[in-house]
This record gives sequence, C-alpha cells and structure tokens, in this order.
Amino acid sequence: MKKRYPRTLSSGANNTVIALTETEVGKLYTGDTRSDIGSEAEKMKFANTVNALIVKFIRLDELNEDAEMLVMERLYPMDFRAYEYEKRELWLEVLEDELRELHKAGFVHRDLRRPSDVVGFKFDNVFLTSTGFRLIDVGISALKTQVGERLFERYVTQELKELEEFRTFVLER
Ligand SMILES: Nc1ncnc2c1ncn2[C@@H]1O[C@H](COP(=O)(O)OP(=O)(O)O)[C@@H](O)[C@H]1O
Ligand SMILES: [Mg+2]
Repeated sequence: MKKRYPRTLSSGANNTVIALTETEVGKLYTGDTRSDIGSEAEKMKFANTVNALIVKFIRLDELNEDAEMLVMERLYPMDFRAYEYEKRELWLEVLEDELRELHKAGFVHRDLRRPSDVVGFKFDNVFLTSTGFRLIDVGISALKTQVGERLFERYVTQELKELEEFRTFVLER
C-alpha cells in the first residue's frame, strides 16, 4: 500500500489534502508541483474578493522540509440527494449567478467536471454545503489578465457547458 500522510482527506489526481483542524485543510505541494502553489494561492485570493463561491484561502505554510501547503477553509460536503428538487434548483441558481459573477470579474474555474479519462467522481470539485454549492481546486483556473480575452472567452463557453451538465446531473438523481 502507498504511504499515506497522517490525517489525509484525499490523495486525488494531483495533490494530497490533509485535515489540519476542524476548520482548516492543507493542500500539499512537493517536488515538481511546488512551483504551482503561489499561482494557485493568487487565483484563490482573487476569486475570494469577488464572492464566496470559491473555497477561502487562509495562508501559505510548510508541513515539513519536503512539503509546502496551501491552507484553506475546510468544507464538509453533503449529498444533494437528501434534498428536495426545489432546494436543489435554488442552489443551482445561486451557483450559476456566482459563477457568472466570477466570469465577469475575469476569473474562470475550468475544472467543474473532471475529464472523462480521469477516474473518480465526475464533479468532485463542486461541494454542496449548508450554505449552498462551493467550488474547490483552482489548480487550472485562469485569470483574464493572464490568458487574454480570446482564451478566456473560450474557457467561459466551456464552463457554461459543464455547468449545464452539472445541473442535469444534480436534477436527474
Ligand atoms: N477545502 C476543502 N475541504 C475539504 N476537503 C477538501 C478541500 N479541498 C480539497 N479537499 C479534498 O481533497 C481533494 C483534492 O483536492 P483538489 O484541490 O481538488 O486537488 P486535485 O488537484 O488533486 O484534484 C478534493 O476532491 C476533496 O476531497
Ligand atoms: Mg480536484
């Protein structure tokens, strides 16, 4: 069996995420992925200034000599199937509003739905919480100021398509 960090929540496609306290988690960066931590933190901080859809950035820290970590708000996902359609539709509406608000501000998440060739839960970056849907994982998110108008628009179009798929996914079950 693979060696696991104590208090691991998930050892997903790219990064391990560990529980730090009841309110904080740390996304670990080791070796080659280290260079991404600053960019991920900046994108998260930017989105946090727009609205509360993206998980809240707390700080950058180190776990030990080998691992740096991005500390963020700890979310506790619920299962949407426990809730009435009316409620799910309301949450979906808010998600759509907030996502469009982020797009207007120049932020696109780009990872609502995982690529079909990657194993795992299809919409694992969307968490349903007691305050509605929240998004984690800004690893491949893009800022308009960095990628330019053209690419940005393309990403937004793709994202709205994925949002539509997510709506179907949530209401079909
Ligand atoms: N803020 C958080 N609260 C609770 N669990 C989280 C949080 N962020 C990430 N996780 C858990 O860790 C997993 C991987 O995190 P993520 O940022 O999506 O990294 P990856 O790039 O590996 O997909 C998530 O699918 C989720 O299970
Ligand atoms: Mg992810």
